[in-house]
Amino acid sequence: MANSAKRVVVLVSGSGTNLQALIDRVAADPGYGVEIVAVGADRSGIAGLERAERAGLPTFVTRVRDHATREEWDAELTARVAAYEPDLVVSAGFMKIVGKAFTDRFENRFVNTHPALLPSFPGAHGVRDALAHGVRVTGCTVHFVDNGVDTGPIIAQGVVEVRDEDEEDEGAALHERIKEVERELLVDVVGRLARNGYRIEGRKVRIP
Ligand code: GAR
Repeated sequence: MANSAKRVVVLVSGSGTNLQALIDRVAADPGYGVEIVAVGADRSGIAGLERAERAGLPTFVTRVRDHATREEWDAELTARVAAYEPDLVVSAGFMKIVGKAFTDRFENRFVNTHPALLPSFPGAHGVRDALAHGVRVTGCTVHFVDNGVDTGPIIAQGVVEVRDEDEEDEGAALHERIKEVERELLVDVVGRLARNGYRIEGRKVRIP
């Protein structure tokens, strides 16, 4: 039912394996309920953009350093995304904090995936910070983005156990195990939001 599929813009900064999981599900499952209408990035030359191009998706790059101020970058990013008229915007490893123009424009429509169990270990180093803290379980959180850093209403979480040997590679293997859980969780959540709709009541996200 491609007609009723929700329009989704995905933002990436790196390897794009979460994006790939979304692309694969859209291709495999006509009832998934999602159309990826564009993929945006804050840098060029990344595997995430190559994945989008291989899938035949429109891409765009909006770099902070091409703008005089962070606000101008934010306004440009907002306009580039808005041009695709998305129902949902998904930050899948997008490593920039967006500004108020963006969060206002896509309020309650902007989903992020984070590699820790929020509200613990927000920010750019969720895996490393959890490991340094000595937690025995960590995981991933898919949540709506508000004006804070990883503070918005939680939609779903997945749990991953920490192993003693995870310290040896500073969390690289742990992050890979988190990403296995994360990809499935993100694909599941985005599909359910798209197909079922949702309500946000305070901090609670209700998906019928
Ligand atoms: C994911 O683990 C995502 O949670 C993380 O970056 C990885 C991207 O992987 N995002 C953050 O840390 C945001 N603070 P991918 O590029 O292979 O999808």
